[in-house]
Amino acid sequence: MPATVSIHGQWSTRLAFILAATGSAVGLGNIWRFPYIVGDNGGGAFVLVYLACILLIGLPIMMAEILLGRRGRQSPINTMLTVAREEGLSRGWGLMGWIGVLAGFLILSFYSVIAGWALAYVFKSGSGGFVGLDAEGSSELFGAMLASPEALLAWHTIFMVMTAMVVARGVRSGLERAVTILMPLLVLLLVVLVGYSMAQGEFMAGVQFLFQPDFSALSANAVLLAMGQAFFTLSLGMGAIMVYGSYLSSEASVAKTSGAVVAADTLVALLAGLAIFPILFAAGLSPGQGPGLIFVTLPLAFAEMPMGLYFGTVFFVLLVFAAWTSAISLIEPAVAFLVENLSLTRVFATTLVAMFAWLLGIGALLSLNVWSGYTLFEMGILDLLDYLTANILLPLGGFLIALFVGWRMTERSVQSELRLKLGFVYSLWYFLVRYVAPIAILVVFLRAVGVV
Ligand code: PHE
Repeated sequence: MPATVSIHGQWSTRLAFILAATGSAVGLGNIWRFPYIVGDNGGGAFVLVYLACILLIGLPIMMAEILLGRRGRQSPINTMLTVAREEGLSRGWGLMGWIGVLAGFLILSFYSVIAGWALAYVFKSGSGGFVGLDAEGSSELFGAMLASPEALLAWHTIFMVMTAMVVARGVRSGLERAVTILMPLLVLLLVVLVGYSMAQGEFMAGVQFLFQPDFSALSANAVLLAMGQAFFTLSLGMGAIMVYGSYLSSEASVAKTSGAVVAADTLVALLAGLAIFPILFAAGLSPGQGPGLIFVTLPLAFAEMPMGLYFGTVFFVLLVFAAWTSAISLIEPAVAFLVENLSLTRVFATTLVAMFAWLLGIGALLSLNVWSGYTLFEMGILDLLDYLTANILLPLGGFLIALFVGWRMTERSVQSELRLKLGFVYSLWYFLVRYVAPIAILVVFLRAVGVV
């Protein structure tokens, strides 16, 4: 019999799990990454492909990850090894866990740098730095931040320490409560921003850009990016959701919880898009701003808005919190593994992982200034880390999970862990996991490298 409780602890309620998983999912991916890659890739058609990936690939894989985690009740590596052993399968499946730990570590290194930008903007806004800002001034403000390795390093360090502090304290304390209060506040503030952009921005132009598909603008690489974004934003393919699933009580419904997390995550991304593009068009900026997009456009809104100083500050504080609750889930798989296999204390394991990610993060932040001349495939270290993880490692991890749950585990084990009544929802899910998700991932990969 597999264990029914993880040695690391368990969520106090099903709601706590939903909040934590939502905290993991909702982060920089929704508010920073989604708008800028939509902007870079022409809008509507990209959004449509992204939404299709969320529903047809993301949601079913999220259920598969949670069900695996709950069955294995350990870090993703040991979960994969345990479940594979129970099913009489090869130890090679442990590789999936390793890919996940690597991906989480790589993501964390640059994630912390970007979260550092958000931290810096809390103080820029709070000290009145946005007052009277125009589009040009806003670009300069952002550029000046990127040009300063010392400032980037300081914020990156602070964020990494914040993350490590929470993870070191374990699953339950602090985190659950923080997420309960902060996530709804973030949504509320996004709604306020959308209200502002309705009133002051080119709202219809923004809506059109987001929702009017022009498929001629969509390259094979853009489809890969849309799929990568779906994985990134839902925290899938690297074991974050799996490890959270391992702390979920055996009674909770995997399907309902997954549905709630996916819905919340998608809502936040679309709200962010609706807040940002109208402001951008009104300011005459181009949507293809790259990673600086929200840092250049939102200050413009806060510059003009009544009480913009407060709204701006609160917004970036919430963005930091959203990033924080995601970053935590990025190291959890590695930490859980080190605690299980090397008997390290949680504090030591966390310090170790955070320190290495911090070091790599320094490379990422230097690629924005001092090392900007060094590129590979026309990308600096930060862009490279982002591309490699979101577009390759996460979908690859998801592909393996779909194969494992869809084809290698016996259907009986799958059903007993899922506890769905064997109706339409189950059949649809199983079909998506077996056929649609893996084939779609494969085709998108092959197309992106030009094979089909
Ligand atoms: N989902 C997070 C975000 O959107 C990022 C993340 C990716 C977190 C993978 C955990 C695992 O910001």
